[in-house]
Amino acid sequence: MTDMRIPLAGVIGHPVAHSKSPRIHRHWLVTLGLNGHYIPMDVAPEDLETVIRTLPKAGFVGVNITVPHKESVLTFADQISDRATLIGAANTLIFRADGKIHADNTDGYGFITNLKEGAPDWDPAAGPAVVLGAGGAARAVVSALAEAGAPEIIVTNRTRARADRLQSDFGNRVVVADWVQAGNLIEGVNLVVNTTSLGMVGKPELRIPLDGLSPGTVVTDLVYAPLKTRLLQTAEEAGCIVVDGLGMLLHQAVPGFERWFGERPVVDAATRAAALR
Ligand code: ATR
Repeated sequence: MTDMRIPLAGVIGHPVAHSKSPRIHRHWLVTLGLNGHYIPMDVAPEDLETVIRTLPKAGFVGVNITVPHKESVLTFADQISDRATLIGAANTLIFRADGKIHADNTDGYGFITNLKEGAPDWDPAAGPAVVLGAGGAARAVVSALAEAGAPEIIVTNRTRARADRLQSDFGNRVVVADWVQAGNLIEGVNLVVNTTSLGMVGKPELRIPLDGLSPGTVVTDLVYAPLKTRLLQTAEEAGCIVVDGLGMLLHQAVPGFERWFGERPVVDAATRAAALR
Protein backbone atom coordinates (compact mmCIF):
# COMPACT_ATOMS: atom_id res chain seq x y z
CA MET A 1 0.00 0.00 0.00
CA THR A 2 1.24 3.50 -0.76
CA ASP A 3 2.31 5.46 2.31
CA MET A 4 -0.09 8.42 2.43
CA ARG A 5 1.56 10.11 5.39
CA ILE A 6 2.75 13.67 4.94
CA PRO A 7 6.56 13.53 4.66
CA LEU A 8 8.46 15.05 7.56
CA ALA A 9 12.00 16.39 7.55
CA GLY A 10 13.92 18.76 9.78
CA VAL A 11 17.21 19.90 11.20
CA ILE A 12 18.93 18.49 14.28
CA GLY A 13 21.40 20.64 16.18
CA HIS A 14 22.27 21.67 19.73
CA PRO A 15 21.24 24.47 19.94
CA VAL A 16 19.13 24.79 16.82
CA ALA A 17 17.01 27.93 17.31
CA HIS A 18 19.39 30.03 15.16
CA SER A 19 19.12 27.71 12.14
CA LYS A 20 17.83 29.26 8.94
CA SER A 21 17.05 25.85 7.42
CA PRO A 22 13.37 25.75 8.54
CA ARG A 23 12.70 29.07 6.78
CA ILE A 24 14.38 27.88 3.59
CA HIS A 25 12.64 24.50 3.39
CA ARG A 26 9.24 25.88 4.41
CA HIS A 27 9.57 28.57 1.73
CA TRP A 28 10.16 25.87 -0.89
CA LEU A 29 7.31 23.67 0.40
CA VAL A 30 4.91 26.62 0.10
CA THR A 31 6.13 27.93 -3.27
CA LEU A 32 6.11 24.44 -4.80
CA GLY A 33 2.70 23.65 -3.26
CA LEU A 34 4.01 20.44 -1.68
CA ASN A 35 2.73 18.52 1.31
CA GLY A 36 5.41 18.27 3.96
CA HIS A 37 6.74 19.68 7.20
CA TYR A 38 10.25 20.75 8.23
CA ILE A 39 10.92 20.83 11.96
CA PRO A 40 13.90 22.12 14.01
CA MET A 41 14.93 19.65 16.73
CA ASP A 42 17.30 20.45 19.59
CA VAL A 43 18.89 17.11 20.49
CA ALA A 44 21.68 16.64 23.04
CA PRO A 45 24.68 14.56 21.90
CA GLU A 46 23.85 11.63 24.21
CA ASP A 47 20.37 11.32 22.66
CA LEU A 48 21.38 11.71 19.03
CA GLU A 49 21.41 8.09 17.87
CA THR A 50 18.21 7.14 19.71
CA VAL A 51 16.32 10.13 18.30
CA ILE A 52 17.56 9.57 14.75
CA ARG A 53 16.72 5.87 14.83
CA THR A 54 13.19 6.72 16.00
CA LEU A 55 12.45 9.40 13.40
CA PRO A 56 11.78 7.11 10.38
CA LYS A 57 9.12 5.30 12.43
CA ALA A 58 7.41 8.67 13.03
CA GLY A 59 7.17 9.51 9.33
CA PHE A 60 10.47 11.31 8.79
CA VAL A 61 12.12 10.88 5.39
CA GLY A 62 15.37 12.51 6.43
CA VAL A 63 17.02 15.35 8.31
CA ASN A 64 19.73 17.95 8.06
CA ILE A 65 22.43 17.72 10.71
CA THR A 66 24.18 20.75 12.10
CA VAL A 67 26.63 21.69 14.87
CA PRO A 68 27.71 19.80 16.98
CA HIS A 69 26.51 16.52 15.40
CA LYS A 70 27.96 16.59 11.89
CA GLU A 71 30.91 14.33 12.71
CA SER A 72 29.36 12.04 15.33
CA VAL A 73 26.43 11.07 13.12
CA LEU A 74 28.88 9.11 10.95
CA THR A 75 29.54 6.69 13.80
CA PHE A 76 26.13 5.05 13.40
CA ALA A 77 24.97 5.84 9.83
CA ASP A 78 24.44 2.64 7.82
CA GLN A 79 25.77 4.06 4.55
CA ILE A 80 28.12 7.00 4.10
CA SER A 81 28.74 8.71 0.76
CA ASP A 82 32.35 8.99 -0.43
CA ARG A 83 32.17 12.77 -0.02
CA ALA A 84 30.98 12.56 3.58
CA THR A 85 33.67 9.98 4.34
CA LEU A 86 36.41 12.19 2.91
CA ILE A 87 35.12 15.30 4.68
CA GLY A 88 34.53 13.36 7.91
CA ALA A 89 31.11 14.93 8.45
CA ALA A 90 27.53 14.74 7.18
CA ASN A 91 24.90 17.46 6.89
CA THR A 92 22.13 15.46 5.19
CA LEU A 93 20.57 12.15 6.17
CA ILE A 94 18.19 10.16 3.97
CA PHE A 95 16.01 7.58 5.71
CA ARG A 96 15.62 4.84 3.11
CA ALA A 97 12.55 2.67 2.71
CA ASP A 98 14.58 -0.41 3.77
CA GLY A 99 15.30 1.26 7.12
CA LYS A 100 18.91 2.17 6.38
CA ILE A 101 20.26 5.61 7.26
CA HIS A 102 22.25 7.15 4.42
CA ALA A 103 24.60 10.04 5.29
CA ASP A 104 25.78 12.59 2.76
CA ASN A 105 27.58 15.92 2.78
CA THR A 106 26.24 18.64 0.46
CA ASP A 107 28.30 21.55 1.84
CA GLY A 108 30.88 21.27 -0.95
CA TYR A 109 28.15 21.22 -3.58
CA GLY A 110 26.60 24.31 -1.98
CA PHE A 111 29.95 26.07 -1.89
CA ILE A 112 30.83 25.45 -5.55
CA THR A 113 27.32 26.15 -6.84
CA ASN A 114 27.22 29.45 -4.98
CA LEU A 115 30.57 30.47 -6.48
CA LYS A 116 29.58 29.47 -10.00
CA GLU A 117 26.39 31.46 -9.66
CA GLY A 118 27.97 34.53 -8.04
CA ALA A 119 31.10 34.56 -10.22
CA PRO A 120 30.08 32.88 -13.51
CA ASP A 121 33.46 33.56 -15.16
CA TRP A 122 35.45 31.99 -12.31
CA ASP A 123 37.52 29.02 -13.47
CA PRO A 124 38.59 26.82 -10.53
CA ALA A 125 41.49 25.44 -12.57
CA ALA A 126 42.92 28.87 -13.43
CA GLY A 127 45.12 29.33 -10.36
CA PRO A 128 45.72 28.75 -6.66
CA ALA A 129 43.01 29.09 -4.03
CA VAL A 130 43.68 30.34 -0.49
CA VAL A 131 41.54 28.82 2.25
CA LEU A 132 41.51 30.62 5.61
CA GLY A 133 40.73 28.11 8.37
CA ALA A 134 40.94 24.33 8.67
CA GLY A 135 37.81 23.32 10.63
CA GLY A 136 34.83 21.28 9.45
CA ALA A 137 33.70 23.88 6.92
CA ALA A 138 37.21 24.10 5.45
CA ARG A 139 37.26 20.34 4.90
CA ALA A 140 34.12 20.58 2.73
CA VAL A 141 35.57 23.57 0.84
CA VAL A 142 38.94 21.90 0.19
CA SER A 143 37.24 18.71 -0.95
CA ALA A 144 35.03 20.66 -3.39
CA LEU A 145 37.94 22.74 -4.72
CA ALA A 146 40.05 19.62 -5.29
CA GLU A 147 37.16 17.98 -7.14
CA ALA A 148 36.62 21.15 -9.21
CA GLY A 149 40.24 21.04 -10.39
CA ALA A 150 41.99 23.75 -8.35
CA PRO A 151 45.71 23.22 -9.09
CA GLU A 152 46.86 24.35 -5.65
CA ILE A 153 44.93 24.88 -2.41
CA ILE A 154 46.83 26.93 0.15
CA VAL A 155 45.43 26.32 3.63
CA THR A 156 46.30 28.54 6.54
CA ASN A 157 44.97 28.14 10.07
CA ARG A 158 45.68 29.48 13.55
CA THR A 159 46.19 25.89 14.75
CA ARG A 160 48.63 24.52 12.21
CA ALA A 161 48.06 20.85 13.09
CA ARG A 162 44.51 21.03 11.68
CA ALA A 163 45.83 22.38 8.37
CA ASP A 164 48.45 19.61 8.30
CA ARG A 165 45.66 17.07 8.77
CA LEU A 166 43.86 18.52 5.74
CA GLN A 167 47.02 18.08 3.72
CA SER A 168 47.43 14.45 4.74
CA ASP A 169 43.74 13.76 3.99
CA PHE A 170 43.46 15.62 0.67
CA GLY A 171 46.91 15.13 -0.83
CA ASN A 172 49.70 17.24 -2.16
CA ARG A 173 47.59 19.78 -3.99
CA VAL A 174 47.04 21.14 -0.47
CA VAL A 175 49.87 23.41 0.68
CA VAL A 176 50.01 24.52 4.32
CA ALA A 177 51.12 28.04 5.22
CA ASP A 178 51.58 29.87 8.52
CA TRP A 179 48.57 31.83 9.79
CA VAL A 180 50.79 34.88 10.37
CA GLN A 181 51.55 34.82 6.63
CA ALA A 182 47.86 34.89 5.63
CA GLY A 183 48.02 38.51 4.40
CA ASN A 184 50.90 37.70 2.01
CA LEU A 185 49.24 34.59 0.58
CA ILE A 186 46.22 36.31 -0.90
CA GLU A 187 48.04 38.45 -3.46
CA GLY A 188 47.21 37.60 -7.07
CA VAL A 189 45.50 34.28 -6.34
CA ASN A 190 42.45 32.91 -8.16
CA LEU A 191 40.24 32.55 -5.08
CA VAL A 192 40.20 33.54 -1.39
CA VAL A 193 37.76 31.79 0.96
CA ASN A 194 37.19 32.56 4.64
CA THR A 195 35.99 29.40 6.38
CA THR A 196 36.75 30.64 9.91
CA SER A 197 34.07 32.08 12.15
CA LEU A 198 35.98 35.38 12.29
CA GLY A 199 33.88 38.33 11.18
CA MET A 200 30.60 36.71 12.22
CA VAL A 201 28.21 38.73 14.40
CA GLY A 202 29.36 38.26 18.00
CA LYS A 203 32.80 36.89 17.03
CA PRO A 204 36.13 38.73 16.71
CA GLU A 205 36.92 40.41 13.38
CA LEU A 206 39.13 38.73 10.77
CA ARG A 207 42.21 40.86 11.27
CA ILE A 208 44.63 39.62 8.60
CA PRO A 209 46.14 42.32 6.32
CA LEU A 210 44.01 42.60 3.18
CA ASP A 211 45.98 45.10 1.11
CA GLY A 212 47.31 42.25 -1.07
CA LEU A 213 43.87 41.60 -2.55
CA SER A 214 44.02 42.16 -6.29
CA PRO A 215 41.38 42.95 -8.94
CA GLY A 216 40.11 39.78 -10.60
CA THR A 217 40.50 37.55 -7.53
CA VAL A 218 37.22 35.93 -6.49
CA VAL A 219 36.65 36.40 -2.75
CA THR A 220 34.00 34.59 -0.73
CA ASP A 221 33.17 34.30 2.95
CA LEU A 222 31.27 31.43 4.54
CA VAL A 223 30.13 33.91 7.19
CA TYR A 224 26.73 35.27 6.08
CA ALA A 225 25.79 37.28 9.19
CA PRO A 226 26.61 40.01 8.34
CA LEU A 227 26.16 39.42 4.61
CA LYS A 228 28.94 41.85 3.79
CA THR A 229 31.86 41.07 6.09
CA ARG A 230 34.96 43.25 6.39
CA LEU A 231 36.72 40.78 4.06
CA LEU A 232 34.04 41.16 1.38
CA GLN A 233 33.82 44.94 1.81
CA THR A 234 37.58 45.36 1.45
CA ALA A 235 37.67 42.93 -1.48
CA GLU A 236 34.96 44.87 -3.28
CA GLU A 237 36.88 48.12 -2.80
CA ALA A 238 39.99 46.39 -4.21
CA GLY A 239 38.14 45.41 -7.41
CA CYS A 240 37.74 41.73 -6.53
CA ILE A 241 34.72 39.66 -7.54
CA VAL A 242 32.81 39.17 -4.31
CA VAL A 243 30.38 36.35 -3.44
CA ASP A 244 28.60 36.30 -0.07
CA GLY A 245 28.06 33.12 1.92
CA LEU A 246 24.27 32.99 2.08
CA GLY A 247 24.06 31.24 -1.29
CA MET A 248 26.13 28.32 0.02
CA LEU A 249 23.61 27.78 2.80
CA LEU A 250 20.74 27.86 0.30
CA HIS A 251 22.37 25.59 -2.28
CA GLN A 252 23.51 22.96 0.24
CA ALA A 253 19.85 22.54 1.16
CA VAL A 254 18.74 21.69 -2.39
CA PRO A 255 19.79 18.00 -2.69
CA GLY A 256 18.16 17.03 0.62
CA PHE A 257 14.91 18.81 -0.19
CA GLU A 258 14.76 17.10 -3.58
CA ARG A 259 15.32 13.64 -2.08
CA TRP A 260 12.82 14.11 0.73
CA PHE A 261 9.99 15.94 -1.00
CA GLY A 262 10.45 14.85 -4.63
CA GLU A 263 10.97 18.17 -6.41
CA ARG A 264 14.12 20.18 -7.03
CA PRO A 265 13.70 23.70 -5.63
CA VAL A 266 15.25 26.80 -7.17
CA VAL A 267 17.49 29.22 -5.31
CA ASP A 268 16.44 32.75 -6.21
CA ALA A 269 15.95 36.20 -4.69
CA ALA A 270 12.78 35.05 -2.94
CA THR A 271 14.70 32.17 -1.29
CA ARG A 272 17.34 34.62 -0.07
CA ALA A 273 14.63 36.90 1.30
CA ALA A 274 12.92 33.97 3.05
CA ALA A 275 16.19 32.90 4.70
CA LEU A 276 16.84 36.45 5.92
CA ARG A 277 13.35 37.07 7.34
P1 ATR B 1 33.45 24.93 11.38
O1 ATR B 1 32.91 23.54 11.35
O2 ATR B 1 32.40 25.98 11.20
O3 ATR B 1 34.60 25.10 10.44
P2 ATR B 1 35.32 24.74 13.58
O4 ATR B 1 35.65 23.34 13.19
O5 ATR B 1 35.17 25.08 15.01
O6 ATR B 1 33.97 25.19 12.88
O7 ATR B 1 36.42 25.71 12.90
C1 ATR B 1 36.43 27.07 13.10
C2 ATR B 1 37.58 27.69 12.30
O8 ATR B 1 37.70 29.08 12.68
C3 ATR B 1 38.93 27.07 12.60
O9 ATR B 1 39.75 27.17 11.46
C4 ATR B 1 39.45 27.96 13.73
O10 ATR B 1 40.83 27.94 13.90
P3 ATR B 1 41.51 26.89 14.95
O11 ATR B 1 41.54 25.58 14.23
O12 ATR B 1 42.83 27.45 15.25
O13 ATR B 1 40.59 26.86 16.15
C5 ATR B 1 39.00 29.30 13.20
N1 ATR B 1 38.96 30.30 14.29
C6 ATR B 1 38.00 30.45 15.23
N2 ATR B 1 38.31 31.48 16.06
C7 ATR B 1 39.51 31.98 15.63
C8 ATR B 1 40.36 33.06 16.05
N3 ATR B 1 40.03 33.83 17.11
N4 ATR B 1 41.50 33.29 15.35
C9 ATR B 1 41.85 32.52 14.29
N5 ATR B 1 41.08 31.49 13.84
C10 ATR B 1 39.93 31.22 14.49
